[in-house]
Amino acid sequence: MYVLGIETSCDETAAALVCNGKKVLSNIISSTLAQHRKYGGVIPEIAARGHIQAIDLVVARAVKEAKIDFKKIGLIAVTAQPGLPGALLVGNVFAKVLGFALDLPLLEIDHTLAHLYAPFLDPDSRRRAAKFPFVGLAVSGGHTSLIFFKTFKQFKILGQTLDDAAGEAFDKVAKILNLPYPGGPEIERLARLQLKPKLRFNCARLKNTFDFSFSGIKTSVLYFVRDWEKNRKRPRVMPIKLKAEIASAFQLAVVEVLVEKSIAACKEKKVKDLVIGGGVAVNLKLRASMILKAESEGIKVHFAKIPYCLDNAAMVAGLAYQMLP
Ligand code: KG4
Ligand code: ZN
Repeated sequence: MYVLGIETSCDETAAALVCNGKKVLSNIISSTLAQHRKYGGVIPEIAARGHIQAIDLVVARAVKEAKIDFKKIGLIAVTAQPGLPGALLVGNVFAKVLGFALDLPLLEIDHTLAHLYAPFLDPDSRRRAAKFPFVGLAVSGGHTSLIFFKTFKQFKILGQTLDDAAGEAFDKVAKILNLPYPGGPEIERLARLQLKPKLRFNCARLKNTFDFSFSGIKTSVLYFVRDWEKNRKRPRVMPIKLKAEIASAFQLAVVEVLVEKSIAACKEKKVKDLVIGGGVAVNLKLRASMILKAESEGIKVHFAKIPYCLDNAAMVAGLAYQMLP
């Protein structure tokens, strides 16, 4: 079955065609990122207007690139939540109207769960896919959640962030260091200049729970930078070496807590597969540390392929196929 996925929860207007929940035939993403950059974060009004301008073209291109006729589509899937209300509205209204015009059923999909379906897209025949039950870590700019899946329809949230999401912390720390938005890739790039930082930041551990908290570490970085500015001898910008030290120490602390809690969740649930998706899953330090630790515990990690980590509609279409009765 060909499923058309539509995703407009944040600043990406995305559409994709996926066959039988696995094979991605097209994956089109248009973003208003450049317009948000000067504000240091996503402006909901700009995102919603961007979706209105792009959605028809993005959907048409996804169908054209998949080289299938609209008549061959069996289902439309759209991200219903969570996300920016105005942005979600555009995708949902478009999907409803298209479904009505083409006489197609419509399935509403949860964005966080879709991120955890991303590792199942375009499977590599040489690698074993994750098997139920498994634990999923959704780690992005909007969410940080650990979820236990018995099936795609039967799952339990084990823990989530109580304040900022991990990606949001990357974005905020980048802003403190005067780096552009989005901060994740910028911090990762800088951190590569200082692989063994002497500085140390810590994330709140929140004992005996799988919940996370990332707002404290962001404040620690802010205070550190403020102190440095107060004590500097003459007005000058922070040297790149110190910025790299801060970026690397921050990244290390976030990765440590994500690895620690994910492995602990797998052990508690006695599962051997850990599935990871979301924008922060692009981070190579996270990938390497998670794989290293998990494999030493006999747990297999399944990261989403890089093009399916950030917001996209292929993950929405793929999950929709699995949600069919
Ligand atoms: O999944 P996504 O596109 O959107 C949400 O659902 O939120 O994730 C975007 C987030 C941003 O916060 C961005 O800074 C972060 O993913 N991100 C990264 C990296 N690339 C993107 N965080 C850490 N390291 C990266 N390389
Ligand atoms: Zn997302």
